Amino acid sequence: MYQAMVDIVLEAGKLLLSARNIQDSVSSKGLACDLVTAYDRAVQEQLCRELLAAYPQAGIYAEEEELCSIEGKDRYFIIDPIDGTANFVRGLHHSCISVGLCEKGEIVAACVYNPYADELFTAVKGRGAYLNGQQIHVTDTDLEHSMVLFGSAIYYRDTVPATLRFVEELFPKVLDFRRGGSAALDLCYLAAGKADLFFECCLRPWDYAAGSLIVTEAGGMVSALDGSPLRFYDRCSVAAGNRGNFSALIQLSQAIAQEGDMKGRIK
Ligand code: IPD
Ligand code: CA
Ligand code: CA
Repeated sequence: MYQAMVDIVLEAGKLLLSARNIQDSVSSKGLACDLVTAYDRAVQEQLCRELLAAYPQAGIYAEEEELCSIEGKDRYFIIDPIDGTANFVRGLHHSCISVGLCEKGEIVAACVYNPYADELFTAVKGRGAYLNGQQIHVTDTDLEHSMVLFGSAIYYRDTVPATLRFVEELFPKVLDFRRGGSAALDLCYLAAGKADLFFECCLRPWDYAAGSLIVTEAGGMVSALDGSPLRFYDRCSVAAGNRGNFSALIQLSQAIAQEGDMKGRIK
């Protein structure tokens, strides 16, 4: 049903693999750590052009230039042309293209592609989540044995103390941590059972739109860190895991949010 969307994302993956002299096209979007390259723009342009040709009624909400044409649209694509741009710039081959289709405020189809490992994650609402065509499931690992992926919400410096509080509280309670640099891949790896728990104190919809459906279709749970539904029009924190470790994370998060100096720091 969404094969055209998948084919378009796979095709865009070739652009990432063909990238040369990436350093020459890097510029900052404000903060020194907030980078964009000619490839982010080129991938976004190609995705938008081809998705609109295949789905002419759809709108677009995409990261670069905060492209937003969703007014009056029943459904729209939420696009991160390269999730993991800092990795891309440094030649750390851990980045992906992420496209989610939003209908009436929920994600109904998702595609995340990591061209370096040729990993294609897909999901359609109600039909399960897949990695290269094989159905995937979250683990049932308890908190104590959980491998935790997290993001440091680097573009939102006011969230740094909250991120550190989560790490401080979780450190003695879990197996270990990883910080990979792509929230979309973090969510997909959790969905595929390669990790067990994820959190980040502030993300934008294109970081988690596709990954969130892939997690829920893999049997996992995902929400904002206060337990409320994810917002697909605004910045939002993200928590994801299996039924058990997810509820432990939400309880911890609600306790941290009560601490005086944490107020307003978890988006
Ligand atoms: C970033 C990555 C990173 C996360 C940041 C995101 P970008 O996206 O997903 O893992 O920690 O918060 O903004 O900038 O590489 O598209
Ligand atoms: Ca991103
Ligand atoms: Ca990006």
